[in-house]
Amino acid sequence: MNAKIIGTGWELPAYEADNDYLSTIMETSDEWITERTGIRKRHLAKEETTTSLAAGAAGKALKASGLKAEQIDLLIVATITSDTETPSTACRVQAELGAVNAVAFDINAACSGFLYAIHTADAFIKSGIYKNVLLVGAETLSKLVDWTDRSTCVLFGDGAGAAVLTAAEQGGVTAQAIGSDGSRWEVLSCMGRSNHNPICQEQAEAGFLQMNGQEVFKFAIKTVPQCIEEALKQAGISPEEVTCFLLHQANKRIIQSVAKRLKQPEDKFPMNIDQCANTSAASLPILLAQMDEQGRLHPGDRLVLSGFGAGLTWGACVLEW
Ligand code: COA
Repeated sequence: MNAKIIGTGWELPAYEADNDYLSTIMETSDEWITERTGIRKRHLAKEETTTSLAAGAAGKALKASGLKAEQIDLLIVATITSDTETPSTACRVQAELGAVNAVAFDINAACSGFLYAIHTADAFIKSGIYKNVLLVGAETLSKLVDWTDRSTCVLFGDGAGAAVLTAAEQGGVTAQAIGSDGSRWEVLSCMGRSNHNPICQEQAEAGFLQMNGQEVFKFAIKTVPQCIEEALKQAGISPEEVTCFLLHQANKRIIQSVAKRLKQPEDKFPMNIDQCANTSAASLPILLAQMDEQGRLHPGDRLVLSGFGAGLTWGACVLEW
């Protein structure tokens, strides 16, 4: 049995901050951000939380799938910005939806989180343990970035996307290539609380996201094409046979570089980075759900989903719509 997507949904915060707005609060410009990244604006959570965005996207995906909340066996939220350290965002979404029969937990694989979630769902579906799985990628990165670090904060936005997967004899996820390299964790990190137990006596302070942008860029343009090629090899298809490549929306130039490396036309690489910026684990499911809503996905289409992120982590999967 393969894991097949039968419903998608997305949700973005109401507030939109464009590049011109950012240029009023820090030394930056619309020209710099657009040229270097392709980003024009991002949605920032004011009233919304990671949980409310996740539940909103999940509810829409569930409705589109035609399943009832009680039919969901497994509910995974990929996030690095849970509102609570514990419980997981997944448990809170479970409560919001009334998915009373689901096993619920979060995955922390940063921007690769949704691919790790697909990997996990596929394994549970293939093993026969679970039939119906609800996956969500949800983030409020705006609370993690350092708003005095212009080289990082302009890149990110908030949002959530979701997909319901079910066991299917044909189609669905047919190949995956996924990996991690913890030895390079310092390239992109966010320190947690320091220890303030009675023995350490350290000040407890939460960290902000820190990134070596150029190292991440080099890592992405090398690793993403490699893992896509590996997944395509496993699926036994060529890049030419792929209908479209949905890549993590981190930087337009990274996506263009991957297209070039795979020798595929850019129009096979749909983007919403100009509208949403980098929403980390939410980026792929938001793009997928928006394309689904716009009627741009058709039965039999061969899709590649691929991304990369802190960890370092990366992944690609091939699926038939
Ligand atoms: N506005 C204006 N100028 C800025 C700026 C901003 N928001 N951020 C940085 N700059 C400046 C730098 O200070 C530097 O100035 P200097 O030459 O006077 O020192 C100059 O722009 C060039 O900076 P640099 O870091 O070399 O730019 P870059 O071309 O490498 O682009 C990134 C920076 C972050 C856009 C790019 O490295 C990138 O996208 N990396 C990948 C990041 C990513 O995808 N992260 C998410 C992973 S999931």
